[in-house]
Amino acid sequence: MAKGGKSTKALMGIVAPMGKEELKMIGLYLGLLDEIDDEEAWYLFRKMISESAHHLTLDTEMLLQLAPGERKGAATRAELEYLRGKLDLAEKGEQKAYDMYDRALAKMDDPYMKQTVRWIRDEEEKHVRMVRELKEIVTRKLSRM
Ligand SMILES: [Fe+2]
Repeated sequence: MAKGGKSTKALMGIVAPMGKEELKMIGLYLGLLDEIDDEEAWYLFRKMISESAHHLTLDTEMLLQLAPGERKGAATRAELEYLRGKLDLAEKGEQKAYDMYDRALAKMDDPYMKQTVRWIRDEEEKHVRMVRELKEIVTRKLSRM
């Protein structure tokens, strides 16, 4: 697969909107599930939601394949400072996700829902820690420059 060239960028431009469309379709069918009381439609919507979610995963995998896979060399000071700023955003986003699942957990009664939400919340907690660890590494690298 082509990596790093112009064609990779063009391919990413083609693949990137796919996931957004799949998410949109998931939202459409979820809304219809709630509005339409027809057994055949209900079956189709559930199938479409499930398949769209799978497509979203595959779209994301394609983007990962297209993303640069090799290091060009050591990051410059400017790149590390830029990265630290982005990691601040990432930390806030992961914390926000954790809080969202944590608040939702308090409202859940169903055991399956509770267990699933708790599992995702705990994953988000790991994400917060992982981003913080990378931030510490970046800060250390910057202090050594
Ligand atoms: Fe996360």
